[in-house]
Amino acid sequence: MAKPKTRYECTSCAASFAKWQGRCSNCGAWDSLEQRTVHDSAASRQPSHRVGAVAGAGESLLLSEIVAGGVADTPRVCSGIGELDNILGGGLVPGSLLLLGGDPGIGKSTLMLQLAGRLADAGSRVLYLSGEESAAQIGMRARRLRVDGGRRLRLITETCFETVERELARERPDVLIVDSIQTVYVSALDSIPGSVAQVRETAAGFLRLAKSEGITVILVGHVTKDGSIAGPRLLEHMVDTVLYFEGDGGQAHRILRVVKNRFGSTNEIGLFRMGSSGLDEVGDLSGYFLEGRSAGEPGSAVVCTIEGTRPLLVEVQALVTPTGYGTAQRVSTGYDSRRLAIMLAILEKRLGLPLATQDVFVNVAGGLRLIEPAADLGVCLGIFSALRDKPLDPLSVFAGEVGLAGELRSVGHMQRRCAEAAKLGFTRLVCPQLRSGDNGGSKIETAVCGRLAEAVKAALVK
Ligand code: TYD
Ligand code: MG
Repeated sequence: MAKPKTRYECTSCAASFAKWQGRCSNCGAWDSLEQRTVHDSAASRQPSHRVGAVAGAGESLLLSEIVAGGVADTPRVCSGIGELDNILGGGLVPGSLLLLGGDPGIGKSTLMLQLAGRLADAGSRVLYLSGEESAAQIGMRARRLRVDGGRRLRLITETCFETVERELARERPDVLIVDSIQTVYVSALDSIPGSVAQVRETAAGFLRLAKSEGITVILVGHVTKDGSIAGPRLLEHMVDTVLYFEGDGGQAHRILRVVKNRFGSTNEIGLFRMGSSGLDEVGDLSGYFLEGRSAGEPGSAVVCTIEGTRPLLVEVQALVTPTGYGTAQRVSTGYDSRRLAIMLAILEKRLGLPLATQDVFVNVAGGLRLIEPAADLGVCLGIFSALRDKPLDPLSVFAGEVGLAGELRSVGHMQRRCAEAAKLGFTRLVCPQLRSGDNGGSKIETAVCGRLAEAVKAALVK
């Protein structure tokens, strides 16, 4: 047998080197090399060889023929969880590899077990691999969630990849759920499960299985402190779809977000509520986030934002109070604090608001994060309303980007925003000029404003 080789692998980019060096010459990270021993069997199976195996027999094909009979026509498998099917673009694509990331305790295993049950009920054969909990624990959870699955849902609490591979060959499931990728190991590698080398090897193994056997594989991955899925970034590059399960420990709702999707659009979100018997779908996003709104109070503004392709109404609350001591405080949750600093500067300079001596607090109700610039207008109007102690029109919603000159800049999807606002009983949308081709909504009145100052007049209660 050949002697094991020692290699040094970068923990941030997974590049591999024969000698140790202080700085990774591939990604530039300092002190990031980790020693690992490679046995011959693993060394002979470098990822590039595997990708070759995944791609097929090494012969080129006509693109037109592939599209005609391939992915484009592949029927999707409905998971039975509507919110998940929607964000994936109509269901799971057979033979695809998905990655689900999220903080510990957010509900990843709960969602996966419910999904496994629904898929089995709909006729798919499912294998659930758990490396974190015992069979008894999962059995107890399944009873609580009323997941049965009959003869089509099987469980395995094994973490050795080779053993799992044998079980897959025996059972030939349609769907494999791996909870979690950090617990599975390839025995040819010396590194501990969860290390960069192991995560890379096992994920590559599951990728090969997904593509060659047509098994849909869902990998559950832990999220590190900085918010990325533990293990190399490589993992996100390898899989077809990346989903993040987000939520605030104090809130019952959980957001499932698509950050990468080779078979559909990204940034789509699905909403769930964690209850005593698992996760329930929440179809009406806007209704959920507007619940308990402080309508008619100064500082409250309803923003119409777009998440993926879904319009969403959320309440932005602002509070402005005179600064007690020292420098004025600016605190923001759910809205980027640097963007808030820009908005405050615009309000001071363009509208002459005396904000230098005021503490400003901005909060997006429901624990949501607003990323779209269309939220700017609502934030500015909320701050104006809070400072002047005058309420904004409770039947108006706001959508528009605010520029440094105090101008309002157009945002897209006006039709969808109008329809969503009308659906929830709002009568007016305060917004910038519509883009050509975006004819706005006929369903509600639109107050088109070119400048922030005009929008303030249009938004305040007369
Ligand atoms: P879990 O799915 O184990 O999280 P993860 O796999 O992401 O670590 O979820 C654990 C949390 O969910 C735990 O705090 C309890 C809560 N939970 C409920 O509130 N209701 C339920 O029915 C279940 C199964 C869990
Ligand atoms: Mg778990």
